Amino acid sequence: MEVIKDSSSVGFSQRKKDHIEISLRDESQASLDQFSKIQLQHNAIPEINFADVDLKTQVFGHSLQSPLFISSMTLGHDGAKELNETLMGVSESMGWMMGVGSQRRQLFDPQAFKECESLRARYSKAVVFSNIGLSQIIDSPVADIQALVDSLGAKFLVVHCNPLQEAIQPEGTPQFRGGLKALTTLCEKINVPVVLKETGCGLSEQTFDALKNCGLAAVDVSGLGGTHWGRVEGLRMQSDELGYQVAQTFANWGISTVDSVENGIRSSFDGSLWASGGVRNGLQAAKLLALGAERVGFAQPILVAALQGEGELQKKMLQLDHELKVAMFCLGIADVESLVGKRNLLRWK
Ligand SMILES: Cc1cc2nc3c(=O)[nH]c(=O)nc-3n(C[C@H](O)[C@H](O)[C@H](O)COP(=O)(O)O)c2cc1C
Repeated sequence: MEVIKDSSSVGFSQRKKDHIEISLRDESQASLDQFSKIQLQHNAIPEINFADVDLKTQVFGHSLQSPLFISSMTLGHDGAKELNETLMGVSESMGWMMGVGSQRRQLFDPQAFKECESLRARYSKAVVFSNIGLSQIIDSPVADIQALVDSLGAKFLVVHCNPLQEAIQPEGTPQFRGGLKALTTLCEKINVPVVLKETGCGLSEQTFDALKNCGLAAVDVSGLGGTHWGRVEGLRMQSDELGYQVAQTFANWGISTVDSVENGIRSSFDGSLWASGGVRNGLQAAKLLALGAERVGFAQPILVAALQGEGELQKKMLQLDHELKVAMFCLGIADVESLVGKRNLLRWK
């Protein structure tokens, strides 16, 4: 695949398309076996009916039908509009919240606002969140970030941090100095809750501690285990390029999703804890909820289904919800709140 290394709209758009294509390949996935070490304790006498199991939750005052969500993915290239229409239409009808991909292009291309505004008009009931990178908020006035949120009618803003990707990507912006200060200012001034996420490399206990006083409403650990951006960027390069070799060295860099949730619980961070990164079924989601995550996100498996159309996406989301319900039923737990943080239901192998 030819990689276009410019920062224009054309280069940006091509990069986003490369990311989609590559993240469908097995080599882009860290495929960590992190969930088999946790076993949920079967309850042979659940004392509830399956029909009693209810996945309804609230996020920042908005009602949802499930604690599962579509993690931030893809925006700002040809084809992204159709993909986001599929994602938004099905997330609205299924009552899942969802994130759009980075809205960075809107910071330099006014045309890109139109895509968000038309999505907002068409799916006004979807609980959608905005997305922008930490390195962009360092350089942008809060008013510019607020405009991204407004263009989408987003209920909250997710700021992603991806130092490994930015360091390996030929067009990367590995400038994170001043990140904590910019995050604190943003949380103070913007009129929606702010959530910080990683993008597949997870968070340490020290990082959580550093985030304690930033004013964040939640943190999504997005840990190592699934889509890995060191791998994705490496696969965009030719095997004789220096960057390719460096990407190979860092192919398993990061902290697993399970360990990242544990780090969040041990740390002094007192906001809401969310989990994503390598989660591939509803049983794994149940394990993360029992560990202490309040909601659980999926990216790559949702992308695979969405590319096959609305029907396949809906089937995938129904399957994930159903698997979570079966786990809850076999634990004797009827509502999500009663599952979150119930660590006595877990055994470590
Ligand atoms: C094609 C694709 C594009 C993505 N774009 C973004 C993005 O723009 N912003 C972001 O915060 N995360 C982005 N992500 C990262 C995901 O939200 C998620 O953190 C990561 O893929 C790990 O989850 P997974 O293993 O379920 O894929 C993207 C993921 C994929 C697969």
